[in-house]
Amino acid sequence: MPNEISKAIVPAAGLGTRLLPATKSQPKEMLPVGRKPVVQYVIEELQAAGLNQMLIITGRRKRAIEDHFDPDPMLLSALEQAGNEALLSELSFIQRNTRFFYTRQSSPRGLGHAVGLGADFVDDDDCVVALGDSLIAGEDPAAPVRAMLHTHQDLKAAAVIAVEQVPADEAHRYGVVSIKGAEPPPGEPVVLTDIIEKPPRGTAPSNLAVAARYVFSPAIFEALGRTPPDRQGEIQLTDAIKSLIQMGQPVYAWPLRADQRRYDVGNFESYFRTFIDLVLADERYGYLARQYIKAKAYEL
Ligand code: G1P
Repeated sequence: MPNEISKAIVPAAGLGTRLLPATKSQPKEMLPVGRKPVVQYVIEELQAAGLNQMLIITGRRKRAIEDHFDPDPMLLSALEQAGNEALLSELSFIQRNTRFFYTRQSSPRGLGHAVGLGADFVDDDDCVVALGDSLIAGEDPAAPVRAMLHTHQDLKAAAVIAVEQVPADEAHRYGVVSIKGAEPPPGEPVVLTDIIEKPPRGTAPSNLAVAARYVFSPAIFEALGRTPPDRQGEIQLTDAIKSLIQMGQPVYAWPLRADQRRYDVGNFESYFRTFIDLVLADERYGYLARQYIKAKAYEL
């Protein structure tokens, strides 16, 4: 069944202060992971899930993202004249019938505020939200969003939220959910009963963390509109989702399967892990990287 949802919001306005100095003058979403910047993985995943209208929420020092998704006629004609088909195909992510839109979040007022800036773009439609600093790796990176879109339509949900198991001592870094029933069924929806953003250490209700992909009905924008800022002055998307649950709207968690992994570039530790794993899995350079790391391992 083809999905009828075509719009995605990609928040990419975060300041990236945990990645200084790498992010002094470039967005963290443009940091390379192997051969492409993080946000290109995100856009390609959404394209492969059938979405073709992308609203990227940018901010100060984020212009490189707009340049990256803009066709560059001079570059294209130089490659065409040189008959360089290989490099031309590397740039095909820009075409693929995708329309790109941009809006700026001028001050850091939180993920919920950033998503809320997409209200007019989304209008009365359902939409996907995919965080621009997080990618999904696996055989078919679009599989989770594709399945979540079907779930959203089949169950007439207000929200379907990807979740993943995280170690108990890391749960305080995430939005954490409670679900109906004891065991989360990977790759199947389960009713989400509660959600909390970054619970204090040791108080998380589970080790199921929100995993950077969401499908929403337009009800999320009303919920965001009545969500007050938290103590840091930020409007949290998690709080708006909680208010949907409290209003009795159908909200589901969608646990990623073991072979579907979320990576992010939020800090250097997770960036390095992302870079190494994705380079090792690269179809063109993975072999060389594996050889190098095996040889290097002897020296460590
Ligand atoms: C954001 C969300 C959080 C989620 C996380 C990973 O946090 O607020 O709920 O678990 O992304 O998807 P951030 O990493 O921006 O602090």
